[in-house]
Amino acid sequence: MPTTALDRLLADDTVRASVPAFDAHRDLIPLRLPAWDTASTETVNALTGRVATAGFALVETGTAPGQDDLLGLAGLLDLGEPFVPPLYRIPGSVQVGTAGVSQLTATPGAAADAARHPATSAIGQGWHVDGTLQQLGEVRTSLLLCVRPAATGGQSLLFNATAAFLDLADHDPAAAAALMAPSALVRMATVNGSNDSTAGPAFAVTGGQLLTRYARTDADRWFPPSGDPAAVDRALARLDELAAPGSPYRLEFTMTAGQGLVFANSRLCHGRAAYTDDSAAPRTLLRGLFTTDLTTR
Ligand SMILES: [Fe+2]
Repeated sequence: MPTTALDRLLADDTVRASVPAFDAHRDLIPLRLPAWDTASTETVNALTGRVATAGFALVETGTAPGQDDLLGLAGLLDLGEPFVPPLYRIPGSVQVGTAGVSQLTATPGAAADAARHPATSAIGQGWHVDGTLQQLGEVRTSLLLCVRPAATGGQSLLFNATAAFLDLADHDPAAAAALMAPSALVRMATVNGSNDSTAGPAFAVTGGQLLTRYARTDADRWFPPSGDPAAVDRALARLDELAAPGSPYRLEFTMTAGQGLVFANSRLCHGRAAYTDDSAAPRTLLRGLFTTDLTTR
């Protein structure tokens, strides 16, 4: 008789079946949209189906996007209004536009915390889910549209963290269980002068889905459950292996101008390779966050 959250997860075939699976040959061919805000029902269904299957969809049109295009795509997908985390409503160097769309560009010479924050600098960005201080499952969908790629580098990185977690759980259940502990992972703010932090599980089953807020950045602290202090170390070491280049749980690609990424933020982790900019034409992405889950309706 299953007793723990992990036991129940491992015994539930429906939860297992809902976990994304990457297929590079399928998933890295962009779905073509006639425009950011118009597409046939078949195309929209193909896009949402891809997100349900792979956890993300790479999309493209012939034109580099603006803020209205991101909102248009959100409307096409019926995602509702963008969600702006309270952290970004605090006055400071990292802000979100009034329509809820962020413009992500490295800001050389800007305020120190902006220069340190990976979203606003050219350094690499470790695995994370968007919404650092939000609860697990709160930010379900992220949209990223590429206005202009970097001069060199800046590859988008995806880690199928929920599938990798099942792999870990099948081989080392105690290590996996440690990441489901109620306060296993504390994530901390790094911008706008905030010292706030949020504790919670790194993985949990919510509404019949395995969801994650797993992260591997400088702003994370891990708290092993008592009784097995080595379990978190084993879990992180194994997940680092499963997120390394060559793993079937990892994808890496460069978005070109006019391409975009729709992803299930609570099922995948993402990151970014370091890059160099042409100062006259810096790498620029637009981002919107949404609490709507594209895959469960
Ligand atoms: Fe992000």
